[in-house]
Amino acid sequence: MLDQLESLYEASLAKLGDVSSTAVLDTWYRDTLGRKGSIYLMTRQVGQLSAEERPIFGKRINVVKNELEAAYSARQAELKATELADKIASSAIDVTLPGRPLTTGGLHVITQTLRDIYRIFGDMGFQIYRSPDVETDAYNFELLNFPPHHPAREMQDSFYTENPDVILRTHTSAGQIRAMREYYPEPVRVILPGMCYRNEQITTRSSIQFTQVEGLAVGTAITFADLKGTLTEFARRLFGANRQTRFRASYFPFTEPSAEMDVTCFLCDAKGCQVCKYTGWLEILGSGMVHPNVLRNGGYDPEIYTGLAFGMGPERVAMLRYGIDDIRQFWNNDLRFLKQF
Ligand code: DAH
Repeated sequence: MLDQLESLYEASLAKLGDVSSTAVLDTWYRDTLGRKGSIYLMTRQVGQLSAEERPIFGKRINVVKNELEAAYSARQAELKATELADKIASSAIDVTLPGRPLTTGGLHVITQTLRDIYRIFGDMGFQIYRSPDVETDAYNFELLNFPPHHPAREMQDSFYTENPDVILRTHTSAGQIRAMREYYPEPVRVILPGMCYRNEQITTRSSIQFTQVEGLAVGTAITFADLKGTLTEFARRLFGANRQTRFRASYFPFTEPSAEMDVTCFLCDAKGCQVCKYTGWLEILGSGMVHPNVLRNGGYDPEIYTGLAFGMGPERVAMLRYGIDDIRQFWNNDLRFLKQF
């Protein structure tokens, strides 16, 4: 019977060597070392042996059992490893392929410019006041002292809706009246940022949509000196501490007197370059003292109150700062352009 055990042992080992998958390995285990397996069945035959043979056989069958268990474990580890390797090799997912990076968004160059402007006026105590893009003729023109057929309307042709009184705002000045009516009788110190729309021929210098930042301060002791001081401080913080400013007389229906502010060219330090057209000056914004009619329309008595106002175009600021030569680039959603900022 010992011989029988030895040949079973050899045969089992040989079969184990031939096992080619973990599924077949399970069958091998059941048939060999399982509760009804061939080795177990042999232990049941011990009773047929003589008293001397029994311990020898018992010892040997234990050794064989342990050897087969060990061989089984080794084979199992081997098969698992090859099966895993095969699975990785044949699987549709190549885990070694680097992932696609998520594209991270960024702030639009005009958003960045607006935030620079907000920061400076914020430090000077101006709050941001939001007013609608869709306006009435009254807020956009009439209450700002543009009478119905006034030639100043020529400069700002709007987009009209089917309702002749409802238009897209042509400038952020439209929000001035809204802010005054909301704040009255308190003093006003706000900036009004936002998109404006004009029915214009589209060129490298003018676009049908663009942003503006308006400023408005109304109080009992506001003078032209405050206007100059506020805007000169603003220009120095935005364009550099040693900038000079100059105010040129101008005309706007809603301010009197009105002035345009120039700042010394920050690109050539006023020496003269292509951008400042060799004048050393860059035109930055329009401004003025709030017209008495406008104050009145906002609810403030012009005998008691005065105000300063200004309006600028962030696109122009960005064009000057970054040397952008075509205003149409800002809002046509070309990532090749936008990603540069
Ligand atoms: N609203 C003017 C425009 O769009 C800009 C402007 C000029 C605004 C003078 C003002 C101002 O508040 O005082 O051209």
